[in-house]
Amino acid sequence: DRSIKIAPSILSADFANFGAEIRAIEAQGADWVHVDVMDGHFVPNLTFGPPAVKAFRPHVKTFMDVHLMISPVDQYIEAYAEAGADMIVAHYEAGPHPHRTLQAIKATGAKCGISLNPGTPASAIEYLLDLCDMVLVMSVNPGFGGQKFIPSSVQKVRQVRQMIGDREIHIQVDGGVDPNTVGPLVEAGADCFVAGSAVFKGGSVDTPEVYGQNMRAI
Ligand code: DX5
Ligand code: ZN
Repeated sequence: DRSIKIAPSILSADFANFGAEIRAIEAQGADWVHVDVMDGHFVPNLTFGPPAVKAFRPHVKTFMDVHLMISPVDQYIEAYAEAGADMIVAHYEAGPHPHRTLQAIKATGAKCGISLNPGTPASAIEYLLDLCDMVLVMSVNPGFGGQKFIPSSVQKVRQVRQMIGDREIHIQVDGGVDPNTVGPLVEAGADCFVAGSAVFKGGSVDTPEVYGQNMRAI
């Protein structure tokens, strides 16, 4: 179903070849490039700062979707916008003022999204939806690629889609998305899919056609 968008996560890419990997997934049909920013505090892993995201920027010809798994988050929004993020997604759980965080993202001119961890109910975003271009429903506990899909995410996607009504707001699902888990998510109303291990598995910058096969299978 090509009305959906595939956003490969470079967390599963070759950490010594990000430029080549980004060009490879885009040449093979990626709709967006998903950049997982982790601070070793909000999640038990550490990845990219603003300088790295700035270095990725010239290689991204589609849309750079920056997922901030950091807390506190407000003090870094400007830096990731400056680095060239097209979309900045903050976590609802990152601090006491998600409404102010979304206002700050919008003020940079980037598209803005709110992300819900698996334990956070859909109702949490009732007063945030009007600020959002996207809601990210986490289908794993954030921090790593290759984790097992959490089935209750399907029900949450359905609830979020119901809350959105006829507003133009994307629902992105992130974590354990693969050919076996994507079907119910599409039916539930998700339209954007992050996939790390399901896209990069078995491929390399020297065999990018594997990335294309993996993306088309989703
Ligand atoms: C997890 C990240 C996800 C992860 C997805 O904290 O937000 O984007 O990279 O990897 P897979 O698709 O392998 O679960
Ligand atoms: Zn992510």
